[in-house]
Amino acid sequence: MKDFLWWRDGVIYQIYPRSFADSNGDGLGDLAGIISRLDYLADLGIDAIWLSPFYPTPDKDFGYDISNYVDVDPRFGTLADFDRLVAETHRRGIRLILDLVLNHTSDQHSWFLESRSSRDNPKRDWFIWRDQPNNWQASFGGQAWEYDPVTGQYYLHLFTKEQPDVNWRNPDVRKAQLDVFRFWMERGVDGFRLDVFNAYFKHPGLPDNPPKFGLRGFDRQRHIYDIDQPEMIPFLNEMRLLLDSYPERYAVGETYFATPQKTVSYCGPDKLHAAFSFDFTSMDLFYPVYPWNPCWVMEQVIKREQTFNAAGVWPTTVMSNHDLPRTASRYARGENDSQPFLAMSLLLTLRGTPFIYYGEEIGLRDIHLRHSEILDPPGKKYWPIYKGRDGCRSPMQWNDSTFAGFSTAKPWLPVHPNYIRRNVASQQADPDSLFNFTKKLLALRKEIPALRRGDFIPLETPPGMLAYLRQIEGQSVLVAMNFGGRNFKFTLPDGNWRVLLTTTKDSPGTLNPYEIQLLILE
Ligand code: GLC
Repeated sequence: MKDFLWWRDGVIYQIYPRSFADSNGDGLGDLAGIISRLDYLADLGIDAIWLSPFYPTPDKDFGYDISNYVDVDPRFGTLADFDRLVAETHRRGIRLILDLVLNHTSDQHSWFLESRSSRDNPKRDWFIWRDQPNNWQASFGGQAWEYDPVTGQYYLHLFTKEQPDVNWRNPDVRKAQLDVFRFWMERGVDGFRLDVFNAYFKHPGLPDNPPKFGLRGFDRQRHIYDIDQPEMIPFLNEMRLLLDSYPERYAVGETYFATPQKTVSYCGPDKLHAAFSFDFTSMDLFYPVYPWNPCWVMEQVIKREQTFNAAGVWPTTVMSNHDLPRTASRYARGENDSQPFLAMSLLLTLRGTPFIYYGEEIGLRDIHLRHSEILDPPGKKYWPIYKGRDGCRSPMQWNDSTFAGFSTAKPWLPVHPNYIRRNVASQQADPDSLFNFTKKLLALRKEIPALRRGDFIPLETPPGMLAYLRQIEGQSVLVAMNFGGRNFKFTLPDGNWRVLLTTTKDSPGTLNPYEIQLLILE
């Protein structure tokens, strides 16, 4: 095994481009803004960036509705800016991963405009047209079919009606999609995050999904015909061959409502390198459940260790992303950072590639919006039962100046009012901040192979505490966390344990409330 493989041993940082840094004062983040903050990311110590979409888009799903796969939306910059971004990330030893949203296009993509123009257009079959809808539901609510009066047929869309699903059964479509991979790899891109990849293929007969108990339309069906079709595997094989024709390229899939067993079945030397398992988050937008206690956390980790180990697949760890309430908003009370410290420790010390969501390193909280301010389509549709995903997409908080140093103009989403106190500059200056803790953990991961590649060995602890070893030939690291407000003494395994990192500077084996200790066996 190679000693350092960036996507396995490194840490990936997700940037939502419209909210990271605005270079031209239009209130929207852009590529030049990201370039201006690369030194910050290099200093933090991440290894790769996953860029959420920056392609031309009518913004019906804020970039996840793409009208041209091979260009940059002028609001975010130009292809020349993109080339500069590649060069500047690489110059700092950082890799770049793009978000490919290939299950659907925007209804403004030229492919769909052609397809909908007439029944005999050569691209008609590039999308899924039927005279009658089946019972499928869009995951953002309502029927998954939209009637198009021009040609008198319905087209399929698993998300908004402005996101028509592409017909992956058509070989020309598959060829065109592989060309998209090729286009970006030729520009130097190191990898891809594949949006809802396991929904690409639909059952050819489009049969009705069988019913099941659930609270809303989408959840009242077993999704056996609209996702996870067997044709996915040969496509992944073909994609992997293409990726492997370039050095060290990577693909991680966003598994959409898949079981852990299904998730690992998509990974391997001739398939995806990795697929998200979302062990600590909820895929259910409307009725998410986020338990948070050491017992539940350990159960999740052990379950995933078993599934991923048995399949020989390398796991990923995700606590937050652009679709979920932020970790700090899920688990913390007010501005207290004890729980975000614990979540960051798990993220960076469990076995698997960590994905940090921008701002997670300073404990960014979700913003709260009034109904009239909501932008996210499912939020608009389902308010107040579900308020959408705008909350976790607010501007990065760089400093305490107007608009948090994100922009000189009013940003597209409001800045969290806590920015005066919670921002990068203030946390950089505070040795005990979450930012500095994250930075230290990232440095330790770089230095200590056991933290990157070591086996995961759970330890017995009193309830309220969590502890495990990460162990590799000749090296053992012990991670201990106190999830609550009590003091704990616990028995360390035999040997001389030296403190690598502690949040309250107590001695090995004694944990103050909410303390985290990393110890190494000498
Ligand atoms: C994925 C994305 C989400 C998007 C959806 C449709 O789940 O993460 O943001 O809305 O796909 O593209």
